[in-house]
Amino acid sequence: MKAILYNNSEASSLRIGYAPDPEVGEEDVLIEVAATALNRADIMQRQGLYPPPAGASPILGLEVSGVIIQVGNQVSKWKIGDRVCALLAGGGYAERVSVHQGHVLPVPDHMDLLQAAAIPEVFLTAYQALVELGRLAQGEHLLVHAGASGVGTAAIQLAKKIKAHITVTASKGKHDLCLSLGAHVAIDYKNEDFLEQSLAITKQQGMDVIIDFIGAPYFESNITALNRDGRLIVLAFMGGYQTQGVNLATILMKRLHIMGSTLRARSQTYKTQLVSNFYNFAWSDIDNQIITPVVDSVFSWHDIQSAHQMMEGNKNAGKIIIAIKEQP
Ligand SMILES: NC(=O)c1ccc[n+]([C@@H]2O[C@H](COP(=O)([O-])OP(=O)(O)OC[C@H]3O[C@@H](n4cnc5c(N)ncnc54)[C@H](OP(=O)(O)O)[C@@H]3O)[C@@H](O)[C@H]2O)c1
Repeated sequence: MKAILYNNSEASSLRIGYAPDPEVGEEDVLIEVAATALNRADIMQRQGLYPPPAGASPILGLEVSGVIIQVGNQVSKWKIGDRVCALLAGGGYAERVSVHQGHVLPVPDHMDLLQAAAIPEVFLTAYQALVELGRLAQGEHLLVHAGASGVGTAAIQLAKKIKAHITVTASKGKHDLCLSLGAHVAIDYKNEDFLEQSLAITKQQGMDVIIDFIGAPYFESNITALNRDGRLIVLAFMGGYQTQGVNLATILMKRLHIMGSTLRARSQTYKTQLVSNFYNFAWSDIDNQIITPVVDSVFSWHDIQSAHQMMEGNKNAGKIIIAIKEQP
């Protein structure tokens, strides 16, 4: 089959080539891929900084949409012809991908397959962070860093469903999008101090939950910006991962919970449960178009280099989609 390959860390080395067809296990479905969507992890993997977990495809791509063209002997949930999207540990930048039946979600009738490719990775990550780790509750204060990222735009919509008070940080030009999705306040982190703003917004009480992707440079401000019993969920280190001189007494005095997570390496069973929990939590709102994946732009897979360069330049707000198959 055709797949996007690369032979060095530069985006300019991405190209369409050939790779072996995926094997289909007894509990797997084979998807003819219509579209995949970009994630920061793809760039890190291309740069040699984020190797795929053992047993995963070496091909880039953590999510796809498409149509099921084959099912394993033990597959009970899906049939050939179903329109689906799926969470992957790799392999999405290809004409076909094999995935466990528990990591697959149905595409609503109203949604085209390009849009559906934007759902799995960022919505499951945001759901896991807000609900399963952060235990965000109605009326609580939430701060989402990188609010206009793929994960951020999903988190805003899920937090709106929970009826939390939502603050985000983002570049100024991305504020309108965040506010239109349900954020109450957007902080221009390049020109404003998010710690000062967070304390002012919460009348000095602090945020109940913070979702962070920046890491070291934000760590001390994040724990200072948290309320008593606050929860900090660390999902990435876009600003670096080594810090020193932080006053750790804050963690003890405020009884903070500091959690980290990475979705890709989790077990098959964990992901199956997460997909099922997320489906029960959000799918009726996705079906009813109350929650919608935010698509920034769509590239043909022939333009994969430009798509990667766009994400590396922080130009996107929401998801960058890669069309693998011509849409009917
Ligand atoms: N742990 C997990 O399980 C997991 C799963 C999925 C994704 N992630 C992580 O979640 C993050 C978001 O992923 P995504 O695919 O949604 O990303 P994305 O759409 O590419 O958005 C990232 C945005 O972050 C902002 N940003 C970049 N560097 C920054 C910095 N140093 N300080 C502040 N803001 C910065 C930029 O927006 P502005 O223009 O607003 O600055 C950029 O557009 C990534 O770091 C990714 O690795 C983690």
